[in-house]
Amino acid sequence: MEGIWIWMLIMAMVAGNHAAEFNVLKFGAKGDGKTDDSAAILNAWKEACKSSEASTVVIPKGTYMVGSMAIQGPCQAPIAILAEKVRFVAPIDPARLTSHNGWFNFQGIDKFSLQGGRFDGQGEITWHENNCAAGKCGSMPINLSFHQITNSVIHSITSFDSKQFHINVLSCTNVTFQRIRISSPHESLNTDGMHIARSSGINLTQADIKTGDDCVSVGDGSEQVNIEDMWCGPGHGIAIGSLGQYNNEEPVIGITVKNCTLTNTVNGVRLMTRPASSTEGIARDLHFKDIVMDNVTTPILIDQEYCPYNLCDTKVPSRVKISDVSFEDIRGTSASKLAVKLRCSKGVPCENVVLSNIKLAYQGSDGAATSECANVKPILKGEMFPPACEVSST
Ligand SMILES: *[C@@H]1O[C@H](CO)[C@@H](O)[C@H](O)[C@H]1NC(C)=O
Ligand SMILES: *[C@@H]1O[C@H](CO)[C@@H](O)[C@H](O)[C@H]1NC(C)=O
Ligand SMILES: *[C@@H]1O[C@H](CO)[C@@H](O)[C@H](O)[C@H]1NC(C)=O
Ligand SMILES: *[C@@H]1O[C@H](CO)[C@@H](O)[C@H](O)[C@H]1NC(C)=O
Ligand SMILES: *[C@@H]1O[C@H](CO)[C@@H](O)[C@H](O)[C@H]1NC(C)=O
Repeated sequence: MEGIWIWMLIMAMVAGNHAAEFNVLKFGAKGDGKTDDSAAILNAWKEACKSSEASTVVIPKGTYMVGSMAIQGPCQAPIAILAEKVRFVAPIDPARLTSHNGWFNFQGIDKFSLQGGRFDGQGEITWHENNCAAGKCGSMPINLSFHQITNSVIHSITSFDSKQFHINVLSCTNVTFQRIRISSPHESLNTDGMHIARSSGINLTQADIKTGDDCVSVGDGSEQVNIEDMWCGPGHGIAIGSLGQYNNEEPVIGITVKNCTLTNTVNGVRLMTRPASSTEGIARDLHFKDIVMDNVTTPILIDQEYCPYNLCDTKVPSRVKISDVSFEDIRGTSASKLAVKLRCSKGVPCENVVLSNIKLAYQGSDGAATSECANVKPILKGEMFPPACEVSST
């Protein structure tokens, strides 16, 4: 129902049916890639947001140079931004990105739709003007952040050639992200394609993500998140976590990852929690199904001793309880021998973990794929290669 309703809303908006139109050119935007169009676009947004009938901010084809953009509600009626064939470029001088909330910060909007838009954090222009000698070299804080967005659709947005790019989804409810394309260099560190936290009813479909970190990471407080039809790689794969690092983390419940292909990624699908977590935590009802692994270093991973940079005490078990997890119909190739690693917490062992129809072959010629388990007794169904829990430890 919800999906259909949103689609009708979008169709009505895109078709411009009775929707008030606010063309940014009428507000003084130039779209020449040189003029700072931030104020013009923000003014068009503010007017549209005041409209009592459904409105559309129309951004015609062109290249728009913009600084920090706080696109905020609440608005009087449903509102759309139509930005097909539009390229946004960040200012040449990173000092002009004044906000800490991201380059584009969409916040507090209900019934919003964003359609199209290519976001170039460091497009040709900025590359050109980069002054690496002065230390201004690819260090711009480029984020698109969606904060407190509800009942909305984000459709066909793209980012190419930008370092440090990611989409941050925080405290959002009922938002569909469709056809999101992200391509940032393999060597870019700490640039999750999309990070989702404290949100519910999030659908990510038909995404194509190439990055130096996780394609998608799902943090604490996420519920009912569906990821479908995604292409991921290179990158670190699809991650739930890490959890248990901070106090007062909220549970992660109801995450589904379906029909995805991961190519040359470091991990496939993984769940990480920190050892010595300060408080108890919950991660349950997590399902991974129909996943193709193509030369993935560790295709299936539960790691409750996740400790980057060794900054924690791995001897104290994690207190995040993982239960009702399934890995179903996962096939393809592993770049390392250890293809399935389920390392659960000694303190709160994993419960009701299902492995069903797993078929992972080791890419190398020096042996076959293997598996390892600790503090978990998975329920096995169907085909199983490598055989489950070949090595069991505690
Ligand atoms: C980008 O997002 C990360 C969180 O994912 C945040 O730590 C960082 O401050 C953000 N940067 C900007 C400029 O918003
Ligand atoms: C997300 O997808 C699920 C399953 O296809 C669907 O039931 C739900 O309504 C969708 N949510 C939104 C916000 O579109
Ligand atoms: C999200 O969608 C559900 C189901 O349609 C609805 O009951 C709920 O009120 C929505 N949440 C918000 C914050 O609008
Ligand atoms: C999703 O499934 C369809 C139909 O089997 C397939 O054509 C498509 O390649 C799959 N997508 C991904 C990302 O695996
Ligand atoms: C497979 O992955 C490994 C490790 O990431 C990489 O070195 C190798 O080039 C990849 N092989 C192919 C065929 O892409």
